[in-house]
Amino acid sequence: LPLEILAPRKNSSGLNMNIHSQGDEFFTKVRSFQNNHWQGGPIVGGELIEADHRVAVTSPQQTTHQMGTIGWADAKLAEKALTLANKAFPAWTRTSADERAQKLEKLADLLEENLHEMIALCTLEAGKGLQDGIDEVREAVDFCRYYAIKARELMGEGETLPGPTGEKNELFVQGRGTFVCISPWNFPLAIFLGQITAALATGNCVLAKPAEQTGLVAYRAIQLAHEAGIPGDVLHFLPGNGGEIGAYLVSQEKIGGVCFTGSTNTAQAINRALAARSGSIVPLIAETGGQNAMMVDSTALPEQVVTDVVHSAFTSAGQRCSALRVLYVQDDIADRVIELLKGAMKELTVGDPIDHKTDVGPVIDGVAKTTLEQHIIDIQQAGKLISEAPMPEYTQGGTFVTPTAIEIDSISQLVRENFGPILHVIRFKHKDIDKVIDDINGTGFGLTFGIHSRNETFAYDVARKINVGNVYINRNQIGAIVGVQPFGGQGLSGTGPKAGGPHYLYAFMTEKTFSDNI
Ligand code: NAD
Ligand code: ALA
Repeated sequence: LPLEILAPRKNSSGLNMNIHSQGDEFFTKVRSFQNNHWQGGPIVGGELIEADHRVAVTSPQQTTHQMGTIGWADAKLAEKALTLANKAFPAWTRTSADERAQKLEKLADLLEENLHEMIALCTLEAGKGLQDGIDEVREAVDFCRYYAIKARELMGEGETLPGPTGEKNELFVQGRGTFVCISPWNFPLAIFLGQITAALATGNCVLAKPAEQTGLVAYRAIQLAHEAGIPGDVLHFLPGNGGEIGAYLVSQEKIGGVCFTGSTNTAQAINRALAARSGSIVPLIAETGGQNAMMVDSTALPEQVVTDVVHSAFTSAGQRCSALRVLYVQDDIADRVIELLKGAMKELTVGDPIDHKTDVGPVIDGVAKTTLEQHIIDIQQAGKLISEAPMPEYTQGGTFVTPTAIEIDSISQLVRENFGPILHVIRFKHKDIDKVIDDINGTGFGLTFGIHSRNETFAYDVARKINVGNVYINRNQIGAIVGVQPFGGQGLSGTGPKAGGPHYLYAFMTEKTFSDNI
């Protein structure tokens, strides 16, 4: 690639909390938003719409704390937004890729300028820890800048192709129309904006539908996008219930595509809805859940294994699609790993996500808490409790789930994705390695896989045989970085292409060939 394209891109930088002045200033600024009362609602045609239906937004760490309210869109408003977006599409898609890219770069700058408020929103509305909040803003910023550069690279001049003398052949790419972008609550800023910025960079208009639980983070992000110069009739914001407004949007004839991240069940429902509607055949980009495993053989270093296991399973309260769910440990090292794991789990601090000493915050809401706690009860009947993290009194006011590790016999005992701080451990014998690989592949999910081994040949052999999108060797298996670890799965875990990767933008484009007999 030409150097001028590659050279200017750098991922955003973090904060060094060990420099006390930096850390103190950061905490003070984030905390200054703690008692804000945010108000949001649908934004259509650049206007905040007074919605008939408003819902209270409470914090998962303290469910009596109402941090704001948000209005929900209805079908009539969604219809208006789609009409406006389709009208705006021809002009937006003819705007130069560079002009659109500049607006995304401006959005990245605005996110950085509003860093503390965005982190406060992520912690209060989604229960994210401070480090997660920083990572969330950084990832959103990286998506803006990465897709801006990729769009310039891919959408500039047409590509000239060979042809007979006297004929000129050129291939052009352009946007597809109006993309419906539907996102989950667990990355309320990064995934929400990742989808939107990819669609906008490639010349599409967007109807953005955030998760019910995290409408306020999304609302502020849309305000910043408009402030950055994305026209109001190009980008519309439609918060509301997934089964209602989400289902309505994906049933519409005149949409150009759907970009979805969330559960496998919802992706399958959207797939069916797209097939059942009339109108043009449009792409579905779906990034969904996982039953992610890690394998540890007897050559691995137990201390490093346990550090990476705890990080992969319990960071973000286990609410990352990439998070580790099933740890396979070779039997001759298993006792040592389990002993260290017990010790490490006793040291986990569960509590207020805005406290920098906290390791594990709350799960997103009461429904998630009930489902996860029921899973812990059910799975213990089939398995054996290894360890639980201590739960301080503070956690009684919120939707906290005890970080738990349980030894089980087989991955087939896990009937569904368990989206929280629960780790399952299975011992295996080296002679059964093929069966373990078959069992992991047999779940049908294929998102992340980790392997710890000092035997490189073995590690790569297993990694090649496991059907997943992202493999991590001798490290933790979460926190993919834009442009470094393109992220996304296969099978029940999604359609690909990979977010934050060099091919992602193609999924949002259509191609057009010009053959000119000059
Ligand atoms: P979810 O499927 O319940 O909801 C996701 C979004 O879909 C929400 O905005 C929701 O309102 C909407 N929705 C629900 N029903 C709909 C319908 N019938 N039609 C249209 N839209 C509908 O998922 P969630 O609980 O918000 O998120 C957690 C899930 O997301 C987990 O399964 C996790 O693994 C997955 N996830 C995957 C990735 C990835 O990159 N692969 C990343 C983050 C999260
Ligand atoms: N991209 C997120 C991670 O890797 C989901 O954890």
